Amino acid sequence: MSNHPTDLAPRPLRAGVRGASSPLLAFAVLVVAGLVAGCSDKPKVVVDPEIEEKIRVRQQNFSEIGTLFKNLGDTIKKGDPLQGNPAVQSAVQQLASYAKDQKFWFDAGTGPESGAKTDAKAEIWTDRADFDQKVEALVVETDKLQQVYAGGDDAAFGEQLKTVGVACQNCHKKYRVDDGD
Ligand code: HEC
Repeated sequence: MSNHPTDLAPRPLRAGVRGASSPLLAFAVLVVAGLVAGCSDKPKVVVDPEIEEKIRVRQQNFSEIGTLFKNLGDTIKKGDPLQGNPAVQSAVQQLASYAKDQKFWFDAGTGPESGAKTDAKAEIWTDRADFDQKVEALVVETDKLQQVYAGGDDAAFGEQLKTVGVACQNCHKKYRVDDGD
């Protein structure tokens, strides 16, 4: 983005058009507004493909973490057996292994400043020590989930899964853009 003052002009217009639920029209308005603003020097942010790929992989990994976590919760809700259930055993293992891998997914340059579409907030890189604690908390809690699973107590497993969920939220609250999911 340039700091051309007229960049601000299309905003109210855009909101109004979005209300009319015509994304195409909204896009056209933005294009026209861009032309009017005369910012032809920087029409689009070019994202480094290597950075874009790292972000894509990160999001894919988180998406898998989300599926594993949800499946475990659903299994409990349905009252399906936990012990001796290969899907549960594998999900518990995979969650712990993803948790340990997480620390490699936040290379410098893969934040919002890259211009890529990411929900990772810039604070990850400015408050790194605190962020790393949130990463570590997930490692601790998913390791514990494995131990509790091995212990065979279903009620304790349910409780520990909730604690894992809190570790997810503690990080999301501060370091992930909340877009309602
Ligand atoms: C240490 C921080 C941290 C922890 C812990 C964490 N997340 Fe996230 N999560 C993020 C960040 C940051 C993003 C945004 C990534 C991006 O858009 O580049 C994200 C994105 C996601 C996404 C969206 C992925 C997509 O499709 O773009 C899901 C789903 C998700 N996390 C689930 C979980 C679950 C479930 C847990 C716990 C088991 C968890 N996360 C733990 C930081 C964390």
